[in-house]
Amino acid sequence: MQYVGYWSYLLISLVLAVILLFNTFHPPIAMKSALIRSTFENKFKQSPEILVNAPGRINLIGEHTDYNDGFVLPAAIDKSIVFAVGKRTDNLLKFHSVDLDESFEIPLEDLKKSDKSWANYLIGVTKELIDNNHEIPTGFELTFGGDIPLGAGLSSSAAVACGLGFALNELFDLKLDRKDLALIAQKAEHNFAGVNCGIMDMYASLFGVENEVILLDCRDIRHRYFAFDFPDYAIVLCNTGVKHNLADSEYNTRRKECEAGVYLLQQINPEIKSLRDVSVSFFAKHRTKLPLLEMKRCRFVVTEIERVVWGCEALSQGDLRMFGSYMYQTHWGLSGDYEVSCKELDFLVKNTEQSEAVLGSRMMGGGFGGCTINIVRKDVVNDFIKKQTADYKEQFDLKLDCYVVKPSDGVKLV
Ligand code: GLA
Repeated sequence: MQYVGYWSYLLISLVLAVILLFNTFHPPIAMKSALIRSTFENKFKQSPEILVNAPGRINLIGEHTDYNDGFVLPAAIDKSIVFAVGKRTDNLLKFHSVDLDESFEIPLEDLKKSDKSWANYLIGVTKELIDNNHEIPTGFELTFGGDIPLGAGLSSSAAVACGLGFALNELFDLKLDRKDLALIAQKAEHNFAGVNCGIMDMYASLFGVENEVILLDCRDIRHRYFAFDFPDYAIVLCNTGVKHNLADSEYNTRRKECEAGVYLLQQINPEIKSLRDVSVSFFAKHRTKLPLLEMKRCRFVVTEIERVVWGCEALSQGDLRMFGSYMYQTHWGLSGDYEVSCKELDFLVKNTEQSEAVLGSRMMGGGFGGCTINIVRKDVVNDFIKKQTADYKEQFDLKLDCYVVKPSDGVKLV
């Protein structure tokens, strides 16, 4: 008896030690998962079959290049959404958003857009899977929530879509690979959210790897990784807290303006299929054939595609200062030529320009609000955040939220 007591004591201590160790290295995921799981158990009176962690993303360089067949350099981050999912015996889909404390349900055979925008991403992914002949034989139920700030341009919606796609792939053994899942999630965003986004956000959420950035060629949808592990520097995001309502409509307009530019450039060289096919020197020679607006849009994209290549070159030489100078070029191109910045973003970027300890700063994502991404020397991160927050408050009377993030693993089972 004493012997059994000893062994069970040892076993419990061992389990506790493993949990402690796990929590030490993955505190946010472990804590988020516990809440999402317990909410699932309370709501649905059973245990979830799987837990999935789906991260948001940053983009180091390569903005508005994905839908022009160019290069991007994103990474998944250590802010994510966790899902708890289980099958049902009937044909209902039951969703519960832990962060919003809202529930929604819909029958599998009648998937259509709802008036709850958060639910639309989930309905959209399920519908895209079915429309692409992947069988979802029964209903399912889920709870989800996390710490990706909404409307900050960190692709919480891509994380939701990719997380659910990944979960359903596991649950119903659909045999899809990560690239298939990225394409399904992208279609869901096109058809259910009405934004004709590129593939970058989904790809980053699914293909992220700790301490690596992803060089994605959006023409053939292939990638390679570059190490982004600089012990003396941190990636700091400054969230303006604004999202000007032009964002979605202007995004679709930019796509059209680029297409119009491509059409005109095709008249000079019919081989040109997208702005990816236009070199900086070719563009410089022929740019006067384009109206001013299209010229500016295309000039930004053509140079930005090339900048990603230079940026990767700088990274592979460990030259973060050079990389940072490209980030500034990107920002002012997005602001001047592409016209997707706003006064809040411009202010935050400008405010870093005199600082030796900030290597690079720029707006990130679609634009018209959201975050700036900054490469800041680690020993001054707190001072940097204090100064940006105070100056932003003084200038706009707005609160600035800042997050230190790092390249992390993509969507995975918890
Ligand atoms: C949004 C879109 C992406 C990409 C960026 C701009 O985040 O979802 O596909 O186009 O804007 O680079």
